[in-house]
Amino acid sequence: MSRITTLLAQMTLEEKVGQLVQLSGEFFVDEPQLTVGPKAKLGISQQQVQCAGSVLNVSGAKKTRHIQEQHLQNSRLKIPLLFMADIVYGYRTVFPIPLAMGCSWSPALIERCCQVAAQEAVSAGSHVTFAPMADLVRDARWGRCMESTGEDPLLNSRIVSACVRGFQHNLEHGEGLAACVKHFAGYGAPVAGRDYNTVELSRQSLFEDYLPPYLAAVQAGCKLVMSAFNTIDGIPATANRWLLQTVLRDRWHFDGVTIADYAAVKELIPHGVAEDERHASQLAFNAGLDIDMKSPCYVNHLAALVNQGEIPEEALNQAVMRVLQLKETLGLFDDPFRGASEEKEQAWFYHPDHLALARETAARSLVLLKNDNALLPLKPGTKVALIGPYADNPDIIGLWAVYGETSHSVTLKQALDEVLAPDELLTTQGCDLLLNYDFLGEFGATTQVDAQSCMSEEQRQTEQARALQYAREADVVLLAMGEHMMQSGEAASRTDIHLPQHQVEFIQSIARVAKKTVLILFNGRPLVLSDVVEHVDAVIEAWFPGSEGGHAIADVLYGKRNPSGRLSMSFPRANGQVPIYYNALSTGRPADKSDHSPRFISKYLDCPTTPLFPFGFGLSWHRVELSELTLAAQFCAGETLTVGITVRNLTPHAGIETVQLYLQDCVASIARPVMMLKEFQQVMLKADETRRVIFTVNEEMLTFFNAEGEKVLEPGRFNIFVGTSSVEVLKGEFIYRAA
Ligand code: GLC
Repeated sequence: MSRITTLLAQMTLEEKVGQLVQLSGEFFVDEPQLTVGPKAKLGISQQQVQCAGSVLNVSGAKKTRHIQEQHLQNSRLKIPLLFMADIVYGYRTVFPIPLAMGCSWSPALIERCCQVAAQEAVSAGSHVTFAPMADLVRDARWGRCMESTGEDPLLNSRIVSACVRGFQHNLEHGEGLAACVKHFAGYGAPVAGRDYNTVELSRQSLFEDYLPPYLAAVQAGCKLVMSAFNTIDGIPATANRWLLQTVLRDRWHFDGVTIADYAAVKELIPHGVAEDERHASQLAFNAGLDIDMKSPCYVNHLAALVNQGEIPEEALNQAVMRVLQLKETLGLFDDPFRGASEEKEQAWFYHPDHLALARETAARSLVLLKNDNALLPLKPGTKVALIGPYADNPDIIGLWAVYGETSHSVTLKQALDEVLAPDELLTTQGCDLLLNYDFLGEFGATTQVDAQSCMSEEQRQTEQARALQYAREADVVLLAMGEHMMQSGEAASRTDIHLPQHQVEFIQSIARVAKKTVLILFNGRPLVLSDVVEHVDAVIEAWFPGSEGGHAIADVLYGKRNPSGRLSMSFPRANGQVPIYYNALSTGRPADKSDHSPRFISKYLDCPTTPLFPFGFGLSWHRVELSELTLAAQFCAGETLTVGITVRNLTPHAGIETVQLYLQDCVASIARPVMMLKEFQQVMLKADETRRVIFTVNEEMLTFFNAEGEKVLEPGRFNIFVGTSSVEVLKGEFIYRAA
């Protein structure tokens, strides 16, 4: 009999329930006045705290070792705690936000970043990370775009798999973090882009667009799945047996641990599906939800529900066994302190190799959106004015860098100071980031965002005058603008995703006097840039680039790196276009090919239907010419189709090109998107190099999900698009014959 089977047999009902309870750190600190507070608030006893199975968002070798030591002293059966935390895109070394990394189109690069994040976090005593976030997003009003890798199910799936591999590298040898994919499911599609709002998705879209990345995480071996706050089919995910049992366990054969998002079990009451905490506990547990994160439900009601036969004790035992198995897999019964070590923290935090990887990733994640007359890269000796609220601002690590330190960020000014002579660089803030910070509220997990204040009117006048003066003197102005770090991330939905009006007016005023202007954006979502893009000569979308952001941007500005980022999420022209995404259905009145008179087609009266910058788009120093798209006219069941395309670098600049292959199922039993990404390859092109890029199209790429979640493969005509974005493509067609 295994050690954990023996252990389970020895456990009391209260001890079993405890393994399904996750409490936050304040319950485990020594100061009694602190622990009394939360215990009283949650209505639990010290005994119940001592039976808890896991801790939320406590990290640091010294702290975790101390808590574990104290816990084991009080644990009758010496069952170690699990330390779980949000290590989404870095621990101390912070990588670019996931939406930025999605624009690298490099799962291999992202895997390395996750491996580094795990290495630092393990030395700090973490065991589980609440990542990767696998929520597909199409709505830029939703603040948590920044945590997603974008609007495409294939790209997201490849990246999510890479994240799980990276986080869980050498997991069973004490090095990796157990990955907890989130938020299952469909959290990225809240109605009106409002966080925590209802999700209304057809089953077909759920299976086709939103579920694949979570499945990819399960297939990559993630150890946990976190239930989402939202409803699916009107049932909150945390109590949705179809999601947690039928899909996750019966279809996908997931045998790991399920955990609720923060207090989501108790939120079944305001959702209106549970009468009280007892009822919420019963619904969630019987739906298949193992661990109750930070709510009083399971801890106060699960034992009674079992005793009263409303929860089968066997089901309880199975849930507890899954948690014990996770602890066994992590080796915690042999070494409860696992990798927690202050010495290793010192060795790994900000390790030069980690920072170098962060710098490379940030450079490969930024996207060059405009570069008129090849203004960039800047030539040596160019006199530069660096102006804007992000000119010398370290708050560039994004809201979910919970364990990051903005004090370690390299700002854009610091990086330029390293490459420019003092008389080549003029720097000033120029204007406020925001004219009011009160609406931002607070964000408990992120402590480094200090309460910020606005300039006085006198300061504003002075800054504006100095900025205009510098703009006149310089050869090129770099305008470092964007969102406040807390304007994206959780609970940061916005109805207006323009830059603030005062920034827009400032950009226009500077552009009027400047010789040349480069807009550099720090933000966590696609913004509406229609009111600024025409006023500047170049635009770099830098996102929240992480600890090495300044260096990465400077490397691109001065040609040390050739920007290769390609958008993983469409940029709208107007708020009213949102949600806007490339893989949409044609409709019966497509704007670009309808028999109806021009008025009566699917369009707006006041805005084009196309995005300002499309999915897959980005510029580089190099330019490529596409030619010779070759493929057979048809292929049959059991065969594959070989597709070739010639990509020619027209410039002396070497660079990475992401060649993208899209398909359209022209006629099917359900309407199919106008195009769907089915494969991509990154090729390193030498100067003036011509390369044949070969793809293999297989039957799997032709399938789609029906409303029952069954894969369907139908014969017929397909269009194929191959190119360097979802719009710069060569088009072909083929027929797939069933026999
Ligand atoms: C938050 C987030 C989730 C996070 C969890 C623990 O509310 O929704 O992504 O992992 O709570 O911090």
